[in-house]
Amino acid sequence: MVLEEYFEDGVAMNRLSETDFAYFSRFLKENSEIVVAIDKEYLIDTRLSPIQKKLGLASLGDLINRLRHEPFGALHNEVIEAMTTNETYFFRDVKPFEALRNEVLPELIKARASSRSLSIWSAACSSGQEAYSIQMILKDSFPNLANWNTRLLCTDLSQEMVSRTLQGRFTQLEVNRGLPAQMLIKHFQKVENDWQVKPDLKVGIEAKVMNLAKPWPTLPVMDIVFLRNVLIYFDLEAKSQILGRVAKVLAPDGILFLGGSETTINISNDYERRGNSETSYYVLKTAKSHSA
Ligand SMILES: C[S@@+](CC[C@H](N)C(=O)[O-])C[C@H]1O[C@@H](n2cnc3c(N)ncnc32)[C@H](O)[C@@H]1O
Repeated sequence: MVLEEYFEDGVAMNRLSETDFAYFSRFLKENSEIVVAIDKEYLIDTRLSPIQKKLGLASLGDLINRLRHEPFGALHNEVIEAMTTNETYFFRDVKPFEALRNEVLPELIKARASSRSLSIWSAACSSGQEAYSIQMILKDSFPNLANWNTRLLCTDLSQEMVSRTLQGRFTQLEVNRGLPAQMLIKHFQKVENDWQVKPDLKVGIEAKVMNLAKPWPTLPVMDIVFLRNVLIYFDLEAKSQILGRVAKVLAPDGILFLGGSETTINISNDYERRGNSETSYYVLKTAKSHSA
């Protein structure tokens, strides 16, 4: 393998040979759908160097060789997890959560009045801030849901993120991002230097590893799906396939939230956009308004 050193923002980087880069991009796409563009090659270096060093390997190429030659196992999973971007925060982008509180939930609660059950999915949940933001809205704005069967399924490719979601423990820095002070006081308690969600915020939360790029387990029909800030890492074909699969688990009048820079337009014909100039969400084209 040809290991070159080059400089990215003044920092010496290990550069992969073309063959190793091609192998690694294919490996990553096949196992996670994540696409690393050639101009983002530095990400491979910054994310994988700690693993390379921990294993005492001389170069990134040596790490790639181990991936190539060893049977798929813990190292492969560790490398895939290291390549994920877990950036998240409470009430991310604010507006989608306002739409959830003011438009989406009131309508769905009316529509589900007889079954008294609601299923929500935080797909690609990262460390759980999205899920607990949803829980706080459910608890604070819709107290009558307390005697409904409300389920919030949280899934992520990363075992570490799933464990963090289940744990519901956040650093001071994390609660400083997006979480209003009165919600912090009401729903969290201080544990050492961190903040732990109170037990009642965990009621209804279920968290599991699930790779959107691999065959999905059987999922319940979902009333609301948060699939936010994950499609951006995938190519067009993967986005289209995943949106097609979401359409199959979404209730006929269900709602899909995507990230601020994500859309179904020109990717999937299953959806139409709803919302306003500030935020949008998606319904199935066959959806009927509850109030109609
Ligand atoms: C940027 S975070 C988004 C978190 C949250 N949804 C939000 O909007 O703040 C992206 C998450 O997608 C997860 N992810 C990446 N590829 C995935 C895949 N193929 N299947 C499931 N989750 C994946 C990552 O582990 C990461 O936690």
